[in-house]
Amino acid sequence: MGKKRLAFLMLVILITGIISSCSISNNSNNSGSGHKAVSSQIDNQESESLYNENNTIDHNITAFLENMTLEEKAGQMLQVERQSISPKDVRDFFIGSVFAAGGSSPDDNTIEGWHSMTDQFKGAATQTRLGIPLVFGTDAVHGNNNLKDTIIYPHNIGLGASGDSELIGKIASATALELKAAGIDWNFSPCVAVSNDIRWGRTYECFSENPDLVTIMAISYITTLQKNGIIACAKHYVADGAVKFGSGDSGFLMDQGNADINQKELDDNYLAVYREAVNAGVKSIMISFSSINNEKNHGNKYLIQTRLKDDMDFKGIVVSDYDGIHQLKGHDTYDKIVLAVNAGIDVLMEASRWRECYEAIIKAAENGDIRMERINDAVTRILRVKMEMGKFGKQEGTIAGQYSLRNSVHKQIAEEAVAKSLVLLKNSNNVLPLKNKKNIAIIGPASDNLGIQCGGWTKTWQGGQDDKKGRWMSGTTVLDGFKELAGQYGTNIITDMSRLSQADVIVAVLGEYPYAEGKGDDGSLSLNKGTVLDYNQRTLEEAYSAKKPVVVILISGRPRIITDELNKWEGFVEAWLPGTEGSVIAKVLYGDLEFSARLPVTWPRTIIQLPITLNNQADGYNALFPYGYGLSIKN
Ligand code: GLC
Repeated sequence: MGKKRLAFLMLVILITGIISSCSISNNSNNSGSGHKAVSSQIDNQESESLYNENNTIDHNITAFLENMTLEEKAGQMLQVERQSISPKDVRDFFIGSVFAAGGSSPDDNTIEGWHSMTDQFKGAATQTRLGIPLVFGTDAVHGNNNLKDTIIYPHNIGLGASGDSELIGKIASATALELKAAGIDWNFSPCVAVSNDIRWGRTYECFSENPDLVTIMAISYITTLQKNGIIACAKHYVADGAVKFGSGDSGFLMDQGNADINQKELDDNYLAVYREAVNAGVKSIMISFSSINNEKNHGNKYLIQTRLKDDMDFKGIVVSDYDGIHQLKGHDTYDKIVLAVNAGIDVLMEASRWRECYEAIIKAAENGDIRMERINDAVTRILRVKMEMGKFGKQEGTIAGQYSLRNSVHKQIAEEAVAKSLVLLKNSNNVLPLKNKKNIAIIGPASDNLGIQCGGWTKTWQGGQDDKKGRWMSGTTVLDGFKELAGQYGTNIITDMSRLSQADVIVAVLGEYPYAEGKGDDGSLSLNKGTVLDYNQRTLEEAYSAKKPVVVILISGRPRIITDELNKWEGFVEAWLPGTEGSVIAKVLYGDLEFSARLPVTWPRTIIQLPITLNNQADGYNALFPYGYGLSIKN
């Protein structure tokens, strides 16, 4: 090759090298070609200088916005399920958040195991050019419930029955500690759905059918959780509980379906709770899979941008539900991302398609299909929440070692919650309290099963039942509680069905099997059909044949149709989904603790009445037990 040619070639190589080294641009409109991840080992000087704790949050946000590339902004708008991404990807694609879905736990499912896993993702984020901290999220809807053998508190419907906002504040404080110990920053809770039709599988995640009670409980939970360092998330925006039976999506009877509601219902029954949550400072709001008047919420700019961000002046993060944008109409992910982000969604909660979303955000910004103002608004909100929650600057050391699972303080809070959630609905001939009974039979498929007591969102997404291999979770059952008290009161506890004739009273503990979301949708709600345990009816028949007074305890996520059986029961207690501290139920039935709860939802007489609530009385309000009903025992 001639000298001239060689020199020319060397010149071309030199120029190419100079151009490529400039392609990692600092300006926010960087169109970085090819959108390969641009990453370079951070020189810590740069990230520390960018965040200055002596400056205002607004000043710090501006500094980042002016320095971030489009790739870095797109990465911040993604929240990826932990099993779909590696720490290296977090670093290379500047991912702003990782989350653990229901049941998604590290192999080492202990506090230490969780902390080590979350640490790896957070450590990867610090290796990026600007070192923007990553926040880790999960659904701790009744305690840190993915974690095995942790304390599980009653599900929301039981807390709604207690009506005790101070109590839920204690639960929020305990949960915050449990989450911090695991390295978790963001809790996709509380669900602030207003229950409308109890055939919905998420009824137990609702505090009530009464928007005012939902608001009281939700605000206490949100403010206490955030005061203790965990980002709260009011969900699912909006009117998720108003969907019509039979309109379900994703193969469900009802869940993710369509709500036919007018403006006044939307404003008064559903938006009102969010307005209060925004005023209380909630830092994130999750969009519902469902639709209103046949428009998917995930693409509804009127709901998100106009009513939430503009009218309510919400300055926090709007996050999609799990892969929620992929339910939107559109040719491909690009179209769906454009629709969802332009509607006002700031963070995309994604599992396997997060890279498509990453590329789509960048491409749409370059094409102008998503304006840079919208991208910058989303990133501003993300940075603001991270800064307001203290994620920048010096971090406190791990408290993993300071928190012990099932510690006595949290156990007592859970026991208090169980006791205050029990609703006494019938007490004929003063069959309760039981303390003066000598021979008590405790029978039924839910009498000795921790998995049934906990319900869905416990260790796995759908929860599970105790079996021959052992208990689903650590804790105590209803039967454990009666056995504990037997000694104290000299009671003889009978569990053998062949000895029921020796009992003075039979306590039959019936229930539902654990379920979550649409898998719990149930069109029958009877005691022997739908999401119920197999032996409910058989247990009742055995109890009736003994011709002894029968007290029924129902462990369920919602009311069920019991009208035809109720007259055969002397006593009836609704225990909802009490969680791992079931033994305290015996103390209440013995009379050591009093019944104080009231129904947070209407108890229907027949299935054809549904939906029936205080706000929805199609054929008059002929409930079996009305909203707010509940008996006490005068000792
Ligand atoms: C689920 C639920 C939502 C939850 C999310 C992440 O599908 O709808 O409540 O926060 O996914 O687990």
